Amino acid sequence: MKDGKHITLGIETSCDESAVGIVADGREELANIVFSQIEDHTKFGGVVPELASRKHLENINDVVYEALNKAEVTLDEIDLIGVANGPGLVGALLVGVATAKAISFAKQIPIVGVNHMHGHIAANYLCYKKLQPPFMALVVSGGHTNIVFVDEYNKAKTIGETRDDAIGEAFDKVARVMGLGYPGGPKMDKEAKRGNKDAIHFKRVYLENDTYDFSFSGIKTQVINYINNEKQKGHKINVPDVAASFTEATIEVIINKTIKAAKEYNQKKIVLAGGVAQNSRLREWILEEGKKNNLDIYIPKGELCGDNGLMIACSAYYSKSSAGKNYDLDAIPGLLF
Ligand code: KG4
Ligand code: ZN
Repeated sequence: MKDGKHITLGIETSCDESAVGIVADGREELANIVFSQIEDHTKFGGVVPELASRKHLENINDVVYEALNKAEVTLDEIDLIGVANGPGLVGALLVGVATAKAISFAKQIPIVGVNHMHGHIAANYLCYKKLQPPFMALVVSGGHTNIVFVDEYNKAKTIGETRDDAIGEAFDKVARVMGLGYPGGPKMDKEAKRGNKDAIHFKRVYLENDTYDFSFSGIKTQVINYINNEKQKGHKINVPDVAASFTEATIEVIINKTIKAAKEYNQKKIVLAGGVAQNSRLREWILEEGKKNNLDIYIPKGELCGDNGLMIACSAYYSKSSAGKNYDLDAIPGLLF
């Protein structure tokens, strides 16, 4: 029952989660169904794009129906459809886009494309009902490491970004080298909790003094070299220590740069977004820094940090003025912020 509320359905298929979320009046969570394909990809050590598209195709209709059931609304009660149309894997995105267009056409519901990265930021609007731009955001995922200044809903200016690997990618690669499997981020987090963060000193990569950009390929190589050297010496690798030391070296840089950017742009609010925002050390450390520097820190609850349809629905709500019969909507794998 919609009770006079505006209902948005959000579809997310950019990587390995087939996800649908439904929100009322933009910020009220009615349903959040995430069908993860992790098990299908684990045996290959990472996401296989072709497989991801096929699995989305198999699952997406069921996920849509499950979300409608959970929200206790029918398709006839949906006012707006939002779909992540980039960035992401092209075949995977196309499944979501085609599904959204089909529902939109059949039921004559306006549709709008959502930038997946704006979706990640929007996860915060669901968790903090009063939060609104402007703010500084740190977006950390498997494909992104960006500091962005968000001056309006769904508008962001990149202040700094990675010049090579994304931080999530670095976590995943280091985890793979240590045999932790895929996805590595959560496994590294678990190991790091048991480790000594000062056990190994990995060089912190800040690049030039005046840049907010990042580089994570060097630290990944440092870890691989360390592991190979230790193995050559016949030493056993202390996985928790490596995980904790690597986490410390990467997180220190992203936190310091984000705090500096917030100060330079006179922003009191820092918003975290993306899968890596689930990292327990990052969450704990940035909250401490927020207190020290008198900044308000916003971090979505864990389940809304990773890919989900709710964040897409919320972001779509704030772009509803662009919604309509957008049947030429296409998947854009390299869509920028
Ligand atoms: O945002 P997301 O779900 O998908 C993308 O848009 O990329 O982010 C996935 C990334 C992966 O690299 C995963 O290993 C990382 O987020 N991740 C973590 C943690 N949980 C997920 N990295 C570090 N610590 C975590 N607890
Ligand atoms: Zn994502």
